[in-house]
Amino acid sequence: DSNVVETDVLIVGSGPAGSSAALFLSSLGVPNIMITKYRWTANTPRAHITNQRTMEIFRDLGIEEQVLADATPHHMIGDTVFCTSIAGEEIGRILTWGNHPARHADYELASPSLNCDIPQTYLEPILVKNATMRGTQTQFSTEYLSHTQDDDGVSVRVLNRLTGSEYTIRAKYLIGADGARSKVAADIALPYEGQMDIAGSMNITFKADIAELVGHRPSVLYWVVQPGSNIGGIGAGLVRMVRPWNEWLIVWGFDINEGTPEVSEEDARQVVRNLIGVPDLDVEITGISLWGNNEQYATHLQKGRVFCAGDAVHKHPPSNGLGSNTSIQDSYNLAWKLAAVLNGQAGEELLETYSTERAPVAKQIVTRANQSGREFVKLFEALGIDKAETPEEMLALIESRKDSTPEGAAKRRAVQEAMEIKNYEFNAHGVELGQHYVSSAVVGDGSTKPAPQRDPELYYEPSTHPGVRLPHAWVGDNARKYSTHDLAPYGQFTLFTGITGEDWTTAAQKVSDQLGVTVKTVVIGPGQDITDLYFDWSKLRGVEEDGAVLVRPDKHIGWRADRLPANPEAALLDTVSAILNRG
Ligand code: FDA
Repeated sequence: DSNVVETDVLIVGSGPAGSSAALFLSSLGVPNIMITKYRWTANTPRAHITNQRTMEIFRDLGIEEQVLADATPHHMIGDTVFCTSIAGEEIGRILTWGNHPARHADYELASPSLNCDIPQTYLEPILVKNATMRGTQTQFSTEYLSHTQDDDGVSVRVLNRLTGSEYTIRAKYLIGADGARSKVAADIALPYEGQMDIAGSMNITFKADIAELVGHRPSVLYWVVQPGSNIGGIGAGLVRMVRPWNEWLIVWGFDINEGTPEVSEEDARQVVRNLIGVPDLDVEITGISLWGNNEQYATHLQKGRVFCAGDAVHKHPPSNGLGSNTSIQDSYNLAWKLAAVLNGQAGEELLETYSTERAPVAKQIVTRANQSGREFVKLFEALGIDKAETPEEMLALIESRKDSTPEGAAKRRAVQEAMEIKNYEFNAHGVELGQHYVSSAVVGDGSTKPAPQRDPELYYEPSTHPGVRLPHAWVGDNARKYSTHDLAPYGQFTLFTGITGEDWTTAAQKVSDQLGVTVKTVVIGPGQDITDLYFDWSKLRGVEEDGAVLVRPDKHIGWRADRLPANPEAALLDTVSAILNRG
């Protein structure tokens, strides 16, 4: 059939999950086609907070600078305000996304990259552009219709929406990165837990220059507690910066049980003016859309040669800013495994570890995001407004936090405690960096994972326990500084050792040759190419100097050895073969 196009991997969707999958595969030299339904990328700002784990991935792929050039930087995103309106009174502030001086050190120590804010309308074009430049065949206005799979591949029917003609793409593997209403996921009947559309939200995008009101307390998020803000939605009214300080997005809830509201431009303008607190504010409404809050995750992410990633497998509100981040991290986990199998370096069973490793993450983040939304109730309770029946009553109860009475004092204490809980939404560093994989692509070293010293959701604790993310340390020489992450790029396995472990180098070379897989040794120590500049790596590496830490392409620890064994080559051969399911 001359109407059949062939490729190795077909990706459906050009959102964060799809466009990053395309970028990763093309960077690894895997032929791929990305189809997407519309004529361009996301048309609304959507996801924006880009956490350190994702920025590290962009650094690995060589696009971190491009992302930063279009982003609002770390130091401008975190003076997060809770108020009765932006021009009105403040209820409190919380320094977020690692911007509190006491938390900033945790973020600086954990990663070579700081977080930032880049709306999806800016991020997706960067991902699509780089993927396409590196080899992806990107097809816009092309819709996935259906597929069938057999032992050798997947045949996918697609529709060219411009010409109305259908054709078939034959791929060895299919990635469904087609969002929360994924047709690919439905077609392979992925199993889900939880529910969709549990609350209603509206997004209003608008232009208004309010630099005067916010420039001195720069943040991405301004939370507004006023009548109506406890109905539906994501916990409270939200005014979100898109571009400082003249482009914005409001998230405002509605009661989903009352049906879908009609929201006119005039209604939207009124919501904007109420939340900003300036009755005659000059506002240009640029968009109004309604969406449902979901609490649903897939418990298995694939069937045969078909995989789903991103919102297709985890559906949740924007709380904690995990949507786009987790989608990109899914694809980062999947792409190197597909490349290894396609290149004949790994057994097909390696692909099953995508589900084993990422399904627990899907569950974790869906649960976390929904809990964060619900925890706003504590603030409403603290203010006593959770049971207010009229707007007037609500305003009086908010006002009474100023009372010079024992009740007033108790209310002030309660508000402070309720604000404290919001750290689990805005400073959840452990959720962002602490992901830990348990699967056949991780080889244990007999040790048990150390119990966390601090709250594991709020704090990331570096370790080289097999399955966790490689700890970052600055290393280098008198001319250059590298992160340990820079020394373990995506296209290879990397083995870190010290001077007395130099024998690992020959062992790794032999294993590389034997398996046809790049295993590169980095010896860190004085007189080597890389020295432990601040002696940080020796404290983080978790093994003796002659031991070794094996890092997978996705920067998770695949295995470690405390000491140099009698036969390092045999130990390494067993381990890499096991990780790659070489049977
Ligand atoms: P995503 O939905 O981004 O992409 C799906 C892709 O598949 C699109 O390119 C689409 O065109 C394509 N597609 C779908 N069906 C297809 C078919 N049959 N054939 C071909 N292509 C098809 N998150 C957050 O953290 N903060 C926020 O403020 C928001 N706000 C927000 C608002 C709105 C309106 C939405 C819809 C979503 C958000 N999100 C969000 C969520 C965030 O946008 C989401 O987590 C990521 O975009 C998920 O990325 P994916 O790539 O998985 O799906």
